[in-house]
Amino acid sequence: MSSLPKYQEIYRRFRQAIDQGQLRPGERVPSVRSLAQELKVARGTVETAYQLLVSEGFFLARGQAGTVVAEALPQRSIKSLPVEPEPEPVAPASAPRLLQLGLPALDSFPRKLWARLVTRQVRRVDVNSLAMGDVRGARSLRVAIAQYLALYRGVECSPEQVFVCAGYSACLALVCDALQMAGQPCWFEDPGYLHARQLLLHLGAQLVPVPVDRDGLDVEEGIRRAPGARLAIVTPAHQSPLGVALGTARRHCLLDWAQAHGGWVVEDDYDSEFRYKGQPLAALKSQDTADRVIYSGSFSKMLFPGLRLGYLVVPRALLPAFEASAGVLQNRSAELLQATTADFLDQGHFTRHLKKMRQLYTVRRGFLVEALASHCGALLQVDEQSGGINLLARLRVDVCDQAVAAAAARAGLGIQAVSGWSIEPGGQQGLLMGFTNLATRQQAVEAALVLREVIDGAL
Ligand SMILES: Cc1ncc(COP(=O)(O)O)c(C=O)c1O
Repeated sequence: MSSLPKYQEIYRRFRQAIDQGQLRPGERVPSVRSLAQELKVARGTVETAYQLLVSEGFFLARGQAGTVVAEALPQRSIKSLPVEPEPEPVAPASAPRLLQLGLPALDSFPRKLWARLVTRQVRRVDVNSLAMGDVRGARSLRVAIAQYLALYRGVECSPEQVFVCAGYSACLALVCDALQMAGQPCWFEDPGYLHARQLLLHLGAQLVPVPVDRDGLDVEEGIRRAPGARLAIVTPAHQSPLGVALGTARRHCLLDWAQAHGGWVVEDDYDSEFRYKGQPLAALKSQDTADRVIYSGSFSKMLFPGLRLGYLVVPRALLPAFEASAGVLQNRSAELLQATTADFLDQGHFTRHLKKMRQLYTVRRGFLVEALASHCGALLQVDEQSGGINLLARLRVDVCDQAVAAAAARAGLGIQAVSGWSIEPGGQQGLLMGFTNLATRQQAVEAALVLREVIDGAL
């Protein structure tokens, strides 16, 4: 049978047989029971198809005497039947490409434990949990997030300030709506997170590129370029994509600017949990005494990106605007997954998982650094970074990073060119690559060898 519902398939078969003269007026059709047995479908399925044919005048039901094809057939040809659209082909679940950027270690996510927690939540579904719920997201998750942030990121907030959305993009869309960013100037790191840039432009924000150096966003330059910007979007812990941290003096300068000019700051704290050397860096929000920072977190790196779960901590003065926008946008995640994530946090799995991933990433990062040094040492220099889930390698040879990234994609590598993340021309060059899914040293060597061939070929 085709992908149509079974009753429709049966209906169409009869219509076709009548159209093509294989079934003639007055001819008896099989009984519901015998056809159901023959086709190995439920009797109700055949009954539904027959009822449809009777209601449209193609069949005549004669009770005990059986069902026959009607004597006076309606003048509708089978070709006039509405054709069911072909279902979209389901894209095969794609395994991460070698060196794929931005993914956590998908092979090491505790899937069985997760499945158990989801199942428990499914069993708990009651009538009330089928309703829409709070526009800010499930309370159990907001409470768990507020606790986590207080303990691990030094961010003090109440669950009422937490808004759960379908990932960082949805968080950003909520910020733009609540702050009415269309046409408004917004500082954006240059280079900066490509997807966020595309989204902000799509939403009509007027992006002001602000250069990034070894100390992160050049705040003074931002003030020079657009002192009255309504918003600044920053990645203070690990600048995306360069991986550097926002320096202490610049943090103060940014917070002072926001307070003095009535600007707002989005702190995108997307992967600060992954730091392998030294103390974890404080969240900018933890230093935000004037309550000007909108803190944003995401479970994409800490759990898995398919979850589509992120959150904001909203300054108290902005709560009414965010509540109104959240009510209009409704860009939330399914309650079931929010409740499962809350269980994951409450039962301590989250912090255990992060600890395990930090250890694993230290090892996997080491595999890649070693393999690049051994096999691409003359071509690449890995940037010193103390955290994050990507590596940045600078090209030692005279070749354009975008040409290398394009050739690498053809060779099956998931790396990207830094210059593609820049707004102003002539931006920094370099290759961004992920190490989290390199399960063995051998895999890292394999990736480095492919990369060497790609760069040699681009020279
Ligand atoms: C800089 C940055 N921020 C945030 C995110 C999280 O995005 P999302 O929650 O939409 O998956 C990512 C993910 O790649 C990122 O690179």
